[in-house]
Amino acid sequence: MNRFYVTTPIYYVNDAPHIGHAYTTILADVLVRFHRLKGEETFFLTGTDEHGQKIQQSALARGITPQEHCDEYVERFKSIWRELNISNDFFIRTTDSFHKEVVSKTLQDLYNRGEIYQGEYQGWYSVSEEMFFSEDELIDGKSPLGKEVVKITEKNYFFKMSKYQNDIIQKVEGDLDFIQPAGKRSEVLGFLKKPMGDLCISRPKSRLEWGVELPFDKDYVTYVWFDALLNYLSALGYRQDSEEQMLKFWPVCHHLIGKDILMTHSIYWLAMLRALNLDFPKTIFAHGWWLTQDLKKMSKSEGEVVSPLEMKDVVGVDGLRYFLIRSMNPANDGQFSKDLVIERVNAELANNLGNLINRSTALVVKYFDAKVPLVKNYSPSSVSLKSLASKVVEEVDEMIDKIAPHKICELLLDLLTATNKYIDEFQPWTTAKSGDLDSAAESLSCALEVIRIVATLLNPVMPVKSVEILERIGLNQDAVDLSLCKEWGVLFGKEVKKGQAIFPRISE
Ligand code: MSP
Repeated sequence: MNRFYVTTPIYYVNDAPHIGHAYTTILADVLVRFHRLKGEETFFLTGTDEHGQKIQQSALARGITPQEHCDEYVERFKSIWRELNISNDFFIRTTDSFHKEVVSKTLQDLYNRGEIYQGEYQGWYSVSEEMFFSEDELIDGKSPLGKEVVKITEKNYFFKMSKYQNDIIQKVEGDLDFIQPAGKRSEVLGFLKKPMGDLCISRPKSRLEWGVELPFDKDYVTYVWFDALLNYLSALGYRQDSEEQMLKFWPVCHHLIGKDILMTHSIYWLAMLRALNLDFPKTIFAHGWWLTQDLKKMSKSEGEVVSPLEMKDVVGVDGLRYFLIRSMNPANDGQFSKDLVIERVNAELANNLGNLINRSTALVVKYFDAKVPLVKNYSPSSVSLKSLASKVVEEVDEMIDKIAPHKICELLLDLLTATNKYIDEFQPWTTAKSGDLDSAAESLSCALEVIRIVATLLNPVMPVKSVEILERIGLNQDAVDLSLCKEWGVLFGKEVKKGQAIFPRISE
């Protein structure tokens, strides 16, 4: 049986969830839902990254403990994922005690095997920003933000990352599907071919207390990325009682991330895996950023946060999921604004899909006693509509494996446009009125078959609306079955229902 393990980054809890977080999480959800429909055994992981300087600072600023801060903020993530219908199998918090134990055991193991060593760290430290900078990051002898810096030399612990540089290069060069989308591969290689140092994985407690203590030196905690990346393994039970999940889901793992954290994943993480004698994951997939309409990055630090929640109240959860998946080609950046969302949802869901549902069901109710009529004879245009639909079904299957759900939406939309055109040519409203019921039956039945197939294939993107569509045409959740997409004529005799528009037009 094929298996599929998908992860999102674990999100920092120093601010509320935003559209960037929502996109990766919805993308993972859509992919995992497709793989479940394919009958695969799946595991979908998301969670929160709760240690480190940023969190400690946020808590301090609020006058509460970091743990209290995390406990409060984590709920924001959990509740928005519930609202957005995210079907994760597990939610990991890096403050979960089992995870901290895994980090600690892993550190000790690497230390025992000489993969972590003690050394001296030299850098320029900005006291006000509490951050280190290397010589070449300084601008006119100051931090990039213009703050005073002092040269600090301190004892620290290093992970022998450079040892694995060649292994990683070989993997990235040899496996074309490893770093995706394709353009990101050369970026990673460019980086990997520069001289690589070892990774400083400790922080003295005098500066940062909020982290996992080094088991071999109580004066230090570990660097937040070292702790965070291990979540992908600890959630599978790594170094815990049962090996079962590890055996099932490592290394069939697909890491979905944003492009800004590609280097930490393709260098730190891969070197860590090698040092742990574990296989590399299947894919590291780095998508672009969501930008505002005037092309600024949207994220918490820019103060440009558009709450996904806000748009869900305007176009519905499934409308928002559809917009995000349909509008971002992960190889590029995507643009987000209220107007763009409304425009797309109106054009594609209310008009293209919605109108096709409305007019075909209304005519079946009016002329065929609400029962999907039997087709006596398929004319050439119906035959070609049917073969277009089966071609789309096959292409969708390929696009699932290529991690291209935006293409899936595009293919389905093109099929709907062709079906609307087909119906316009057949004019069942005229033929039925003039008594040519055979012709009307043919076109309406075929259009409804397309609607059934499209609704099924859109189910991972719009889990609720797709079932509403199926119910409208006499089916139910059980019809969400990929094998039925290869059949035609499933609907004969089924009773379509009248009802309010499934995708009402949104007024601006
Ligand atoms: N905690 C780390 C990840 C550790 S994974 C072991 C982190 N967290 S984050 O909350 O800052 O960001 C998480 C993700 O959100 C990143 O993948 C980042 O690319 C993504 N986004 C943040 N702003 C974004 C947009 N405007 N658009 C799309 N995604 C963006 O990094």
